Amino acid sequence: MNTETNILLPSAAIDIFVNDEETLRAARQLQNDWRFARVKVNVQQGYVENAIEFYKNNKSPNLVLVETATTEESFIVQLGELSSSCHEGTNAIVIGPVNDVNLYRDLTSMGVSDYLVKSVSVEILSDVISKTLIKSLGTSKSRLISVIGSKGGVGVSAITQALAWGLVDKMDQKTFLMDAAGGWSSLSVGMGFEPLTTLHEAIKANEGGDSDSLNRMLFKPHEKLSVLASGSDTMLETSIQAMDYEELITEMMKSHPVVVVDLSAAIPSLKRTVLNQSHEIIMVTTPTLGSLRLARSLLQEIKLLHDGDLSSVDLIVNMAGIAAGKEVPHKDIEAALGHKPSLTLPFDSKLFMTSENEGKKLSSVTAGAEIVTKLLPIVNRVIGGDLEVKNTNNQSLLDKFMHALKGKG
Ligand SMILES: Nc1ncnc2c1ncn2[C@@H]1O[C@H](COP(=O)(O)OP(=O)(O)OP(=O)(O)O)[C@@H](O)[C@H]1O
Ligand SMILES: [Mg+2]
Repeated sequence: MNTETNILLPSAAIDIFVNDEETLRAARQLQNDWRFARVKVNVQQGYVENAIEFYKNNKSPNLVLVETATTEESFIVQLGELSSSCHEGTNAIVIGPVNDVNLYRDLTSMGVSDYLVKSVSVEILSDVISKTLIKSLGTSKSRLISVIGSKGGVGVSAITQALAWGLVDKMDQKTFLMDAAGGWSSLSVGMGFEPLTTLHEAIKANEGGDSDSLNRMLFKPHEKLSVLASGSDTMLETSIQAMDYEELITEMMKSHPVVVVDLSAAIPSLKRTVLNQSHEIIMVTTPTLGSLRLARSLLQEIKLLHDGDLSSVDLIVNMAGIAAGKEVPHKDIEAALGHKPSLTLPFDSKLFMTSENEGKKLSSVTAGAEIVTKLLPIVNRVIGGDLEVKNTNNQSLLDKFMHALKGKG
């Protein structure tokens, strides 16, 4: 599964008209896939003809998948009929009987998003649908990185802040840093600002489309780094809903290629929602028994949430050496967790306390800079390469089909 599609998909509707039994079964399984939680999937047994009939009386969805029994000229005519009964934003994927490169080229040049040969497995189906939805609904190429601890105090906030600075200083990424902790946030101390707002107010400003207010809630320690200056929330009350926070993240992702969220002191529902939305999850633990035991449970829960897929989770063992002789040996950690740590960081109280107390970047001294250098390869996997690529291929089936017809005529 690639990182682009391994996220909770945006709200969308899909209609699937297939006749092939195996593909039909795969289509019916889609709704069990965690990534499809907000996608309405309507499966009907049939062919492209049934789709054409259906849209005479029904509104077309974001994406329609149709099976065709033939790839001859008559199918191209049917495709034209289909596109004229669908509304403009509808995309189409065709499932056909033969593997034919020329046909694939013809169809994609007419605006069909993809051509698949039956029978299609559920893995391929979900991957192709995910790609098409992400492309057509304009979900940005931005990447969401969340950092979570297996327990409190393991160094999540320190690592998150060092990572955000590394992204800006070393990778030149326009980065947005936010903390999901509300009143329990220590972000203001680490980044050196006075809390200007609460998560509740930020969410309200976002919901009301009030970008001026939202801008006033930001702390900008660097032209490429914006920090949501939250932290004024009350500590003993929960004032926000996970879904609202998710929308705030989505909004920030529209203007920042990288969004980094500190989940260390967030409430469980928020942790879960943000983890599902993340392209990259960094889980921090210490090499102590208690922390590792919780790390194992948390990994299991994420695995369940993500249908057994932990490819987007990187484990950092922090504070190695904090309890010399009492720690779980490095070689046993992987076996105990069933997941290989991506990085081990030493316990260095002088380094971390100086950085924290004096409000300085971890990288301002050599040992801290070395830690940042080790952190960046972890996130490079998700932000490397294609961040700047803008999606220009947003034309729908109808747009392109009409264009192709005009070109022929
Ligand atoms: N490798 C390290 N060596 C020494 N001290 C560290 C290390 N990593 C973090 N610390 C320090 O440990 C303390 C706890 O770290 P931090 O606040 O980042 O943890 P957290 O996981 O965010 O905690 P919380 O659950 O309270 O949000 C801080 O004082 C931090 O500077
Ligand atoms: Mg913290």
